[in-house]
Amino acid sequence: MNLTTQEFHHPAKGLIHMTGDNLHHPGEARASGPSVADTLASDRHRPPPPLLESRYEFLGDKDIPFERYTSPEFFQRELRELWPRAWQWACREEHLPDIGDTYVYDIGPYSVIVVRSAIDTIQAFLNSCTHRGTRLLAGEGSGFSPAFTCPFHGWSWELNGSIRNIPGRWDFPHVCHDTHDLQAVKCERWGGFVFINMDPDARPLAQYLDVLPEHFQHFPLERRRIRLHVQKTLPCNWKAAQEAFMEAYHNFETHDSPNGGNTQYDIFGKYVSRFIHNIGNYSPESLDDYPGGKWRKPPMTDDEMIAFLGVYGLDPGKVPEGETARAHIAQALRRYFSETLGIDFSNVSECLMLDSIEYHLFPNMFFFPGINIPMAYRFRPNGMDVDSSLFDVLILEPLPDGAQHPQPPEPVRLNVEQSYTEVEDLGWLGPVYDQDTGNLAMQQQGFKTSRKKGLTLGNYQESRIRRVHITLDEFMSGATARE
Ligand code: FES
Ligand SMILES: [Fe+2]
Repeated sequence: MNLTTQEFHHPAKGLIHMTGDNLHHPGEARASGPSVADTLASDRHRPPPPLLESRYEFLGDKDIPFERYTSPEFFQRELRELWPRAWQWACREEHLPDIGDTYVYDIGPYSVIVVRSAIDTIQAFLNSCTHRGTRLLAGEGSGFSPAFTCPFHGWSWELNGSIRNIPGRWDFPHVCHDTHDLQAVKCERWGGFVFINMDPDARPLAQYLDVLPEHFQHFPLERRRIRLHVQKTLPCNWKAAQEAFMEAYHNFETHDSPNGGNTQYDIFGKYVSRFIHNIGNYSPESLDDYPGGKWRKPPMTDDEMIAFLGVYGLDPGKVPEGETARAHIAQALRRYFSETLGIDFSNVSECLMLDSIEYHLFPNMFFFPGINIPMAYRFRPNGMDVDSSLFDVLILEPLPDGAQHPQPPEPVRLNVEQSYTEVEDLGWLGPVYDQDTGNLAMQQQGFKTSRKKGLTLGNYQESRIRRVHITLDEFMSGATARE
């Protein structure tokens, strides 16, 4: 069958000619069946206003060159022009409860020390001695130091970066605070996260957060604790890794799931995008738009939907007469989380209880405000390897009012071969992450063998990926810094 750009072949319906929105207004067509807005409007508990917003713009439909994921030259450009200038979260505030607590964050060839230098002050410095450059603190992660001392010749600095002692001071009359204090890194906080930026001229973090502060007033991430931190090495470029988490289009094939077609994608600006993926309302009309996927089972009843959602670790029983599967499972989750966390969730919307709500912050961070799907993600290059990346998952559990943040857990580190199912505490997410990451080695390899030269994106469902690439180009050319 030869397809023109205006035709597609549906196994059940035959040859279909595209008309209307698909052709004349690219990006405006949507899957059949109820939209996210329809679902939220029919929920019993109204979600906070930001979840009722929707913003999308068509950003073009040209292929994205594969070399952006494979070329050592492009990777080097990112190391020079992206990572040393981009805001990125290094750790959570609860990693640094006491004066002298440190957290080392590594990105590509760079390393940054974050330290609580006074009760109300968190500062950051390049992890490098101002004598002959030696790294001051080894390894990424949490530590404690009353001061910083270089392991080579023993120069030392106060926690605020001020140089304290130089052995053999007589030989260094040319050294003073102005020139040899630790090299400051910009450091700001939002939502309980500590962000760093190595560019001394970086604009304030708030200018990059777009709608995040306004939206997350309704879902305060600072009132969460890290229940689990898993860090895995992935066999692909960092962008391919994060892009596997930016759309629900893969749900049908990768997750063998009948859900995902009705996902809403929002682009709030250059730096922030979002999807909202409803859970627990099965839409056969939407499924019909994805012929050829793995999901070829007959339509599900509400009880089958509940059984399908058994992955959420609950057994809420049969759906009562007149109730929807979505309402029923949301109620079961309200009961479960109210009991286990000691927080009253009785008026929390179905959307926040159930749905996968995922905000992305350029270049590499994700925040999920939901209660049952409560993660933060970070993707970054693994050292200097264009073909390898590190994926951090934090499970951020709500904290009861007045409760102190407990000490955060050490990350569980998985190598490229290990399965997420080895981390028992991930529960139902373990097999899901295995599916999400299971395609990445093949994708990275496929980039290199293709004659086609670039990846093709859906106008709507994959629009967030395109937004990141456009912003990446603008950012690296300096265009955004000059605004
Ligand atoms: S390199 Fe650090 S004290 Fe010499
Ligand atoms: Fe997925």
